[in-house]
Order: sequence, then structure tokens, then C-alpha cells
Amino acid sequence: MKISVIGAGRIGSMSAFEIINRDLANEIVLVDIVKGLPQGEAMDLNQMASEKGKSVKVVGSNEYKDIKDSDIIVVTAGFARKPGMTRMDLLKTNAGIIKEVAQNISKYCENSIVITVTNPMDVMNYIVFKITGFPRKHVIGMGGLLDSSRYRESLANMLNVGRSAIKALVIGEHGENMLPMPRYSTLGGIRISDILSKEQILAAEENTRKIAAEVISLKGATVYAPISCVATMVESIVRDKKDIIPASVYLDGEYGLKDICIGVPVILGKNGWEQIIELNLNEEEKEKFMKGANAIYNAIEELKKEGLLT
Ligand code: APR
Repeated sequence: MKISVIGAGRIGSMSAFEIINRDLANEIVLVDIVKGLPQGEAMDLNQMASEKGKSVKVVGSNEYKDIKDSDIIVVTAGFARKPGMTRMDLLKTNAGIIKEVAQNISKYCENSIVITVTNPMDVMNYIVFKITGFPRKHVIGMGGLLDSSRYRESLANMLNVGRSAIKALVIGEHGENMLPMPRYSTLGGIRISDILSKEQILAAEENTRKIAAEVISLKGATVYAPISCVATMVESIVRDKKDIIPASVYLDGEYGLKDICIGVPVILGKNGWEQIIELNLNEEEKEKFMKGANAIYNAIEELKKEGLLT
């Protein structure tokens, strides 16, 4: 299994770290525009692999040709938000970077599965899909799983129970309009919407939406939670686990939407996403889901106006 990671910054290098620790690849290629950075990360990671007796080979490169024929490509290149920024504030700067990344992916790879991490992720994933021309099942954005893990954390703290007792689901935009789903989240099989009061539900949602910004204001970036989610998605694909994971995928009529990438639950396996799970949304959920969809549509329009997307 050859896995390439574009962008050898915090998320890229740590994703490689977690992929190695979970034994998911025998070759990892780290690509970055900064000279020396991916090479240095590769050396450090190889030395870690050596200590653990793992046979994986990590290569650092400044050239896209080295990603040739990757089975999976994780895209983390681009700017991360700074304290006080929303993910959408990164739109134009990262769109240019992701366009270049996607052009290079399609130049050197024919049949890879791409996991997009760069923010604003839904829009960046849309750019990857459009520019690579890959089948839609091969282009998957990481966001919903991360939001869901933060929702689980909020709920576990609020209910004072172990995290594993809770199944938490967040769909929709990976951004300000993310949509936690208390009707589809459970404590020991019982719906969260039947356990918590309206005020508690709102408080858990608010916490889930804001917690990443708080981490960024405290330590400058979020790292461990996102890279764990990247590895979980890679693992589901590599081991053909067919886990149900909320992820951003290109919709073609599902959820009543077309020509957009947005977070919905999908079954992830060796062929990429294999099925979209269509949840029955009530009016309130539909309205919130559409608010996120409109934010993504508007961002895509903005990029088209700027000539960054055709
Ligand atoms: N090609 C390859 N690498 C690039 C390019 C490019 N065109 N442009 C930038 N990079 C690299 C940078 O040199 C840097 O090493 O992308 C890396 C980004 O790393 P960090 O700045 O550490 O950012 P990180 O915290 O890893 O976040 C990356 O993931 O979660 C999202 O919001 C986050 O958009 C951000 C992305």
C-alpha cells in the first residue's frame, strides 16, 4: 500500500506518524514545497519505524512525480487558521494551492483514493473532485468524523459517562454550520434527543462548534484529533472495514442536493465510499443542513467569480 501525504506540516507529518503506528502502509511519500522539510520529517519517521521494527519506508520529496501510482493520497497542503479565523477565511488562499495539488495528483495518479483535509474542507474537496476528474467515490473529505469526535467529547462530559458509551454524529458543512444530530446520536442505544433537555442539547452543539477554535487559541493548532481521524479513514479503506463514517462527498441528488461536497454518513471500504446513508431529516435539521450547503455553494460561486474554478 503506497500512501502519499501532500503537505508535511503539522497535520501531514503527524498523519504519517499515525499511519505508521497503525501499520497501514509499506510506503509513505511526504511532499511539501518547503525544501528540506519533508526530507527531515521522513528521516525522523523512518528512525521511529526502525525503533519499532516496522518495515515501512518513508520518502520525503519536493516533487510531485514521487506520488506516482499512490493507492491513497492525503491532502493537507495549505494554510491553517490562526486564532480568531473561521475555516472559510482560508478560502481563496487555499483554493489556489489545492488547485495545483489536484492538477499534480491527476498528472501522476490514475486510480487513487484522495482524502482532503485542507480547509475550508468541503470546498477544497469539491476542487479536488472537479480537477482530478476521479470517480466521486474516490474523493472524500475528512471533517464529519472530527466534528463527531468533538460532539462525543461534549456529550460524554455533559453526561459524565465513558466516551465509548456514546455514539455521536455530526453531518453537514465542516465549518460554522456543522450539524450535530442528537436524534441520531445515542447513549447506550438511547437517543440523545430523548435524554437531554433542549438547553443541554443546544449547549453540547455550541461546544462542538466552538471547541476547535478554543484549542487553536490555546495551542495554535489542532493536531491529534484530526490526524487520528485521517488514520481512521485510511484504516477503513486499507482494511476494507466498511465503517460508517461521516465524510464530505460529492452529492448527485442525495439529500436533495447536486454539485456540492458536504458531510454525510458513508460506508468506507477498499473502493472509497461505497454507499451514502440517507438519513431522514426533520424540518429543523433540513433547514440547518441547507444553511451549511448554501455557505458551500456561495464559496464555490465566489471562487468561480475570481476565476479560481471553472
Ligand atoms: N504543495 C505542497 N505543500 C504545500 C503547498 C503546495 N503547493 N503549499 C503549502 N504547502 C505546505 C506548507 O509548506 C506546510 O508545510 O503545507 C503545509 C501545511 O502545514 P501547516 O502550516 O503546519 O498546517 P497544518 O496545521 O498541517 O494544517 C494543514 O489542514 O486541518 C487543515 O486547516 C488546516 O488547512 C489546514 C491544513
